[in-house]
Amino acid sequence: MIKANLNFSKLPQRYLFLDIAKRVAAYSEKHPGADIIRMGIGDVTKPLVPAVIEAMHKAVDDCAASDTFHGYGPERGYLWLREAIVKGDYAPLGVKMDADDIFINDGAKSDTGNIGDILAPGTVVGITDPVYPVYVDTNLMRGNVIKYITCSAENGFTGDIPKEKLDVIYLCYPNNPTGAVITRSKLKQWVDYALEAGALIMYDSAYEAFIRNADIPHSVYEIEGARKCAIEFRSFSKTAGFTGVRCGYTVIPQELMVKDESGQPVNLNALWERRQSCKFNGASYISQRGALAVYSEKGRAQTRATIDYYLETARIIRMNMEELGLEPQGGENAPYIWAKTPNGITSWDFFDELLNKAQVVVTPGSGFGPAGEGYFRITSFADRQRTIEAMERIKNMIKLA
Ligand code: MLT
Repeated sequence: MIKANLNFSKLPQRYLFLDIAKRVAAYSEKHPGADIIRMGIGDVTKPLVPAVIEAMHKAVDDCAASDTFHGYGPERGYLWLREAIVKGDYAPLGVKMDADDIFINDGAKSDTGNIGDILAPGTVVGITDPVYPVYVDTNLMRGNVIKYITCSAENGFTGDIPKEKLDVIYLCYPNNPTGAVITRSKLKQWVDYALEAGALIMYDSAYEAFIRNADIPHSVYEIEGARKCAIEFRSFSKTAGFTGVRCGYTVIPQELMVKDESGQPVNLNALWERRQSCKFNGASYISQRGALAVYSEKGRAQTRATIDYYLETARIIRMNMEELGLEPQGGENAPYIWAKTPNGITSWDFFDELLNKAQVVVTPGSGFGPAGEGYFRITSFADRQRTIEAMERIKNMIKLA
């Protein structure tokens, strides 16, 4: 009999957002016609902006003629997109970046999950809690050792620097799920820790486009020394509405080294190229053309307007949560609002109550880790009027309770 990967038995039975989708589907089946407002998974609702649409139409036309057709692309992604990223995302921050530090992918989720392929199994991984469940689940699948770094209101949801030695640390700022941001000085403490401990930081900055406060870092590479200890993940999903199109990128600086068993240096950029060229055939030409358009003058202005729309929705949610005394966090430089459940009820009980009594879907905090218990997450990606309607329903439900 062939054995399954028994590490899967350590995972929750279902991936968080699939679990929620199934519960909502079961409710819908029992209550046909129920008017459900979905503010659970962080999926965007605004259409792709005109500059992206135009570029993607053109890319489809390219594929219609043999002299402009594109088949397999380069293993790191098209150079024109990687150069646009260097110029558009890193040069304005004063960050040194080379196009060959960058690997285009089909969205940050795949790479944050797959990156462990190039590290030894059994790695000791520090993961901030509460957290995007992909980091925990994928490390459990590999049999890695997980150490939670508790994030709470007391430490601004940025975690205390550990006293113990960790091999890898996952950081996500602006944070999913809490919407917290990290200051430059706190991020420097993490980079200093990693340099001293010989640890590797996995920095997920998928939500950096929501930063409006000029003091908040957009990239881990704004901190000196980070090129020697950090990998960064970015995505066009939330920046430009690519949750369905699929395109993002991973940065592995060419000087980033780990060690082999005999202590000899191993280059991670080369290892990842080896891994990707074997297991991945790239994001489509059409997606990459769409992503390139995000860096055009029109693309920039249009995507920024979309994010401004979501940020205004986030402000409205936050204001309503404040009115209810639920001590909301986030929503100012991030699309997520993190709030306390009323009267200390559990996250899942509140989820069920909201679904059953108000037909509103949020994400229960404990689904993001033990420190999320007693909280829930609301996304600002729903339509504005539907969000306002959801706020009314939540307020009525809580006031009636
Ligand atoms: C979320 O809701 O946390 C995100 O949509 C998940 C993701 O980006 O994969």
